Amino acid sequence: MRIILLGPPGVGKGTQAKLLAARLDLPHISTGDILRRNVKQDTELGRQAQGFMTRGELVPDVLVNQMLIEKIDAQEGAGFILDGYPRNVAQAKILDEFLNKRGLDKYLSFYLDASEAVIIERLSGRRVCGNCQAVYHIKNMPPKVDSICDYCKGQLKQRLDDKEETIRNRLRVYLNESQPVLDYYKKKGKLYRILADGAAELVLDEMLDLVKREK
Ligand code: AP5
Repeated sequence: MRIILLGPPGVGKGTQAKLLAARLDLPHISTGDILRRNVKQDTELGRQAQGFMTRGELVPDVLVNQMLIEKIDAQEGAGFILDGYPRNVAQAKILDEFLNKRGLDKYLSFYLDASEAVIIERLSGRRVCGNCQAVYHIKNMPPKVDSICDYCKGQLKQRLDDKEETIRNRLRVYLNESQPVLDYYKKKGKLYRILADGAAELVLDEMLDLVKREK
């Protein structure tokens, strides 16, 4: 099973990808996580990507496409949950071309949708473990001990791109560059819209029902 999660920043793609990956026993591929790891490890890719990410802009396709294709190739034909890619129509076409070539062209895409107020509340309250990258929310999914990761006891931090000004820029970039991807998948008849402003378990259940139906 191959699943593509689409939707605005902060709608819960990463949260749902992890839940789906655990329930369906599939790898979770997040381009944002891969890029952040590269920034942390100060690799050449990380150095090139960092400025774009801090400003809330898309990292150029030339840096992201190859990285993603290598990651999918490493799964050797197994399924995956894709989170954060494709982010523009050019990326969607590259992905389709690649999946067609490998005979992996059967997939489902979910568009997670929520109001702007919910998105801003989720992004501004998000905290991430600086050590293991586990994701929390100060109100919705708080850690057991304030600012400390439940899993590894690392210190929780705010992501650099979760500052108010950058959030607004990410939402602008999403509207201009990523929203057309929804029409691309809609035209192919491969898109399900999921209302994602409810509890994480409800959002998950709706997707799992659709996965069962499509199997
Ligand atoms: P990326 O990491 O992909 O960021 P994003 O798409 O902006 O998405 P987020 O990770 O911010 O949010 P999310 O939807 O995963 O929400 P989450 O589950 O954390 O990309 C970062 C940057 O990398 C980009 O800006 C770009 O520069 C670059 N990049 C990445 N991919 C690229 C590509 N393909 N091309 C070019 N550049 C690329 O949830 C948010 C919060 O809400 C959390 O605190 C969570 O606990 C909480 N929450 C989640 N679900 C619920 C719920 N149902 N109820 C209550 N709270 C919830």
